[in-house]
Amino acid sequence: MKITVEAKPAKAGSVNICLVLQDQRGKISPPVSETEFSGKTNALLHMRTEQVLYVGLGERAGLDAQRVRNAAGAAAMALKKIGRTRLAINLEDWPHFAGAAIEGVILAGYRFEDFKAKKSEPFETLHVQVLNEDLAEAKKAADRSRIIGDSINFCRGVGNLPGNHLYPEVLAGIASQLAEEKGLKATIFDEKKLKAGKFGGILAVGGGSVRPPRMIVLEHRLGRKDEAPLVFVGKAITFDTGGISIKGAANMEDMVFDKCGGMAVLGAMAAICGLKLKRNVVGIISSAENMPSGSAYRPGDIVTAYDGRQLEILNTDAEGRVVLGDAIAYARKDCKAAAIIDLATLTGACGVALGEYAAGLWFNTDGMRDSVLAASVRAGERLWPMPLFPEHENQIKSEVGDIKNTGGRLGGACTAAAFLKAFAEETPWAHLDIAFTAFRDKDQAHLARGATGFGVRTLVELAENWTK
Ligand code: BES
Ligand code: MN
Ligand code: ZN
Repeated sequence: MKITVEAKPAKAGSVNICLVLQDQRGKISPPVSETEFSGKTNALLHMRTEQVLYVGLGERAGLDAQRVRNAAGAAAMALKKIGRTRLAINLEDWPHFAGAAIEGVILAGYRFEDFKAKKSEPFETLHVQVLNEDLAEAKKAADRSRIIGDSINFCRGVGNLPGNHLYPEVLAGIASQLAEEKGLKATIFDEKKLKAGKFGGILAVGGGSVRPPRMIVLEHRLGRKDEAPLVFVGKAITFDTGGISIKGAANMEDMVFDKCGGMAVLGAMAAICGLKLKRNVVGIISSAENMPSGSAYRPGDIVTAYDGRQLEILNTDAEGRVVLGDAIAYARKDCKAAAIIDLATLTGACGVALGEYAAGLWFNTDGMRDSVLAASVRAGERLWPMPLFPEHENQIKSEVGDIKNTGGRLGGACTAAAFLKAFAEETPWAHLDIAFTAFRDKDQAHLARGATGFGVRTLVELAENWTK
């Protein structure tokens, strides 16, 4: 999609998207009734003869970038569905939301059609109209949104691939190729290197599959040589059957999205590299397929993790924390991380607690809570701070090893976080449980079904604003 930013209207042939607050509804001419167009969030009115698509922004109070992004996205999705590919958007009243609006259009342009014979038409052009005085800023915002939007769509594209097409080895190939194209350094730990390095957690989880695990390390180093890196760690279980503690059949297909924490890290690294941030950032993607078989790890096993901790496995379906433990320990010991942020579709319990409306946020310092929350607010990705009590940590103490991989049903998302916290030790750490924000079963107004790319924007914001 070609994006042009100008202080004049688009040439004929485009559909003009107009963002309208509820209280501006009366200005539409010719006048329309409230039932025709309410101006409520994401309400749409298509005036075909005028080539205008009005989209509601809702109430004036509390208008933010997220609402603008979603409204622009909802308008663009509607146009995509009727095959319109030349778009224009008037942002003369909303220059400070130009980035969000453009991002919304880019995100609405993606749909998972790799396996469809008939593909939808991609957007050809987006013309952005602003006032002359806002031109320079809007152009900058457009460049940034293009990089972030494309990175999010890239990570959604990989996230949507099913388990038979996308497994750890394939993911490592995709990450290596991305690294080559963008100029990131990629290091792939294949099963041999994982064995040599004693990554016992990743190997245990990957052991049941004929498709061996991988740990993928991507490095972006445009900061000072001696600057300790910010390290992002993502869970990328390419398919989670539960292993020997096998899941029920209902909704098991959703477990193709169990790699979405890793995908957020991949997308964030692509964006951070594209934005040329003057900072050191490392992305680690811990990838395995969790399968039951004769070589699978089993309940009762005691597994030696990368940092020597003895893990008592009680449930092979609590595999995410097991692959993350090794990667977090690697971030601490080998990358000498300034801070570690992990993202994972970790627990059903997080969805029970928060619904699909926010990801849970755990942390081991108040500073981490504050900087990650601030980043998520700027990103328009909702996080909710969650507790980590000493009792949660007690719940997973093991009688036979150091730590158990489940602490029972109560506080399931918190005990999972407590498990991860142990591997970070004294390194500032935050954990995002994105189990129910990482994918959607159905189309939303502004976003096609499947992987959402949740987390990319928060990680980018965090890297951009990191000051320690
Ligand atoms: N990948 C799942 C969590 C999940 C569930 C993500 C539903 C998205 C939607 C994770 O590996 C898992 O199976 N967790 C178990 C942990 C339990 C065995 C302690 C869970 O949440 O049931
Ligand atoms: Mn599982
Ligand atoms: Zn899982």
